[in-house]
Amino acid sequence: MATSDAFQVSSLKGKVALITGASSGIGAGTSVLFAQLGAQLALNGRDVENLKKVAQKCAQCGGAEPFLVPGDLTDEETVRKTVEQTLAHFGRLDVLVNSAGILAMGSIETTDLAQYDKVMDVNVRSVYHLTQLCVPHLIKTRGSIVNVSSVNGQRSFPGVLAYCMSKSAIDQFTRCVALELAPKQVRVNSVCPGVIVTEVHKRAGLDDEQYAKFLARCKETHALGRPGEVEEVAQSIAFLASDAASFITGVNLPIDGGRHAMCPR
Ligand SMILES: NC(=O)c1ccc[n+]([C@@H]2O[C@H](COP(=O)([O-])OP(=O)(O)OC[C@H]3O[C@@H](n4cnc5c(N)ncnc54)[C@H](OP(=O)(O)O)[C@@H]3O)[C@@H](O)[C@H]2O)c1
Repeated sequence: MATSDAFQVSSLKGKVALITGASSGIGAGTSVLFAQLGAQLALNGRDVENLKKVAQKCAQCGGAEPFLVPGDLTDEETVRKTVEQTLAHFGRLDVLVNSAGILAMGSIETTDLAQYDKVMDVNVRSVYHLTQLCVPHLIKTRGSIVNVSSVNGQRSFPGVLAYCMSKSAIDQFTRCVALELAPKQVRVNSVCPGVIVTEVHKRAGLDDEQYAKFLARCKETHALGRPGEVEEVAQSIAFLASDAASFITGVNLPIDGGRHAMCPR
């Protein structure tokens, strides 16, 4: 289990980080941990009330008051404004964490193009666009990027086709951009969580009973016999973003209680 010790990784003191998906789940937990580790934060999410609650938690744990840049990242103008406003506010950017994402259920027989487009739009296209606009600023600071991928990008599962494809794309994006930016000393990595307790599965359509069964199945599907917690992913994101990971780039890091090892390629 995760401990409440925020200092398992190096300090993020003095670093300015833009975190997407900060209004919920993994992005929210990462925001709080980054604040505890001394980072200054620009937070994106669509739900402004939730974003404010996360910002409050960041401030309560001794961090600086985060700067909020809410909006839908599938909207190109919002992405541009998110970067412009963050740079105008802080004058620099050291870390980009791409955590915003959606899950959708569906197979090749049931996933229509509308669902495919929606998943790709949020999980891949918006990440590509936001990263592209952040890169010139990250080059100036020799910064780093952490993408939130999934075990679904590394291993194959039925019934979540577009989602699996989107996360494979993020892993490939991570490795390619890592090679492109390595000469400029910008590091690019992804974390690949297994099942983590957040809102994402219920938002994809599971009701309370189905979700309880899904979590119970982690006893068999995850080697460690349980789902993960947001804080366990946040710790790894913070490590990869920190100077402690200064020689790590192009990595797709499983944070999945051994799930990837249980379904070999
Ligand atoms: N939980 C898991 O088991 C698991 C496993 C592997 C990978 N992941 C990945 O982890 C990442 C975070 O998911 P989570 O589990 O933390 O889910 P979550 O609790 O549902 O959070 C998703 C976040 O993404 C934001 N978001 C969604 N669509 C957006 C859009 N169009 N524009 C801007 N923000 C948008 C949401 O914002 P609002 O709430 O404000 O709308 C929310 O902050 C995702 O990329 C997901 O694929 C999760």
